[in-house]
Amino acid sequence: MNEQQIIDTYQTKFQPQLTRGLRGNYQAPSDKSISQRALIFAALAQGTSELTSILPAEDVRHTANALMQLGIQIVQREQLTWVVGQGGWQFKPLTSHPQLDLGNSGTGTRLLLPLLARQPFTSQLIGDASLSQRPLTHFLTALQKMGAKFVGGPGLPLTILPNGQLQGLDYQLPVASAQLKSALILAALQAQGPSHLVTLAPTRDHTERLLHLFGASVAVHQQQINVLPLQQPLQATGLTIPGDPSSAAFLIVAALLLPQSQLRVTNHSLNPTRTGLLQLLQQIGAPIQIQPALVKTAEPVGTIAVGSLGAQAYAPLLIDQRNLGQVIDEIPILSLLATQLTGTSIIRQATSLRHKETDRLHVVAEQLQLLGAQISEQADGLTIVGPTPLHLPDQPLNAHQDHRIAMTLIVACLILGQKVPIIGLASIATSYPHFLDDLIALNQGARA
Ligand code: S3P
Repeated sequence: MNEQQIIDTYQTKFQPQLTRGLRGNYQAPSDKSISQRALIFAALAQGTSELTSILPAEDVRHTANALMQLGIQIVQREQLTWVVGQGGWQFKPLTSHPQLDLGNSGTGTRLLLPLLARQPFTSQLIGDASLSQRPLTHFLTALQKMGAKFVGGPGLPLTILPNGQLQGLDYQLPVASAQLKSALILAALQAQGPSHLVTLAPTRDHTERLLHLFGASVAVHQQQINVLPLQQPLQATGLTIPGDPSSAAFLIVAALLLPQSQLRVTNHSLNPTRTGLLQLLQQIGAPIQIQPALVKTAEPVGTIAVGSLGAQAYAPLLIDQRNLGQVIDEIPILSLLATQLTGTSIIRQATSLRHKETDRLHVVAEQLQLLGAQISEQADGLTIVGPTPLHLPDQPLNAHQDHRIAMTLIVACLILGQKVPIIGLASIATSYPHFLDDLIALNQGARA
């Protein structure tokens, strides 16, 4: 579905059915973080990798296009994608056109940065308005310590100057960020000497797992990561992309909040660095059951059965640095859930949310307030008092071009039983173009 089709589907086919809940089997869409990492690692590897079920969404398309501009051959047929790796770190020089447009893809930008930082040619990263204003300060500071040279920043456009080598790095990461960790691991693998990185708190570990699958290894011991320069190229491999828990979260929370739901989510990631939502739901005793798949893969998956919360009272949520990394992309939909729990939910130590596709603390508070939620914004988080019946807003809602806020607001309409005008729905194409199709099929019993 393209951006216009998403808007049309919302306007013409989305008819919230309050009493039907979400019913049926649902396959979680492929993971956005893993899809982009798989393409990038396959591009560096020796041989042809076969990737099954790469996510068909705008962020992934932008990352794939950037790799193709850098000389990588990528061929796609239905569910299969073949990437002919270059077997090393050197890309084809960008001569006539040094600009790489990453659209809205924060992950693509941040993972390509350490690779472009050691090329013998100049490149320039550009993106859409939202990506351009997101600061890259921590990335630039750390990569400059290793010898990389940049002009511009802290956002995009950013010019990366030719550079022949990177030094090893001994560094404590100032923020808990999987993207920063991944960028520095990729830089460290190309460096002249060993690197030692210290992370602040656990974050998604797809880079570490996938590097292992592609034949490289980094030594991780709790918060310490030791990386040695890679002696031989990554090796091509086959990989099936698991479902994205940050996308499935919208359907899971919708099922919980509507009556009569019976949802079965297959292909859901069970990687412990991504299951924070499931863990929170288990802690409060929500009606979910988790069935791990029997076959063991680099990224574990399983099936989740979800029922309705119903009239019972459920305890509120506490999210802080200990579990924030596991729910970093689920904060908008968890905030909506919190409006229906009993008591005061607290989200704190979450300033990194101010630098996502939009300032998520501010926009989530502002938009849920319009729907009648008791939610207040603090410098580093949100406080949400529930349960509060939502009501129709007296003005259109606005997702501020943030895909996860757009999907949260649609789920809010569903539990309100009313369609409300929402500005910025096209952004859903970034991560989950078929979101409305899936929601309509499960709630209305018909494909859009
Ligand atoms: C991502 C990591 C997270 C997440 C983003 C994707 C990744 O960002 O919010 O959507 O692919 O590594 P940070 O690690 O910067 O918090």
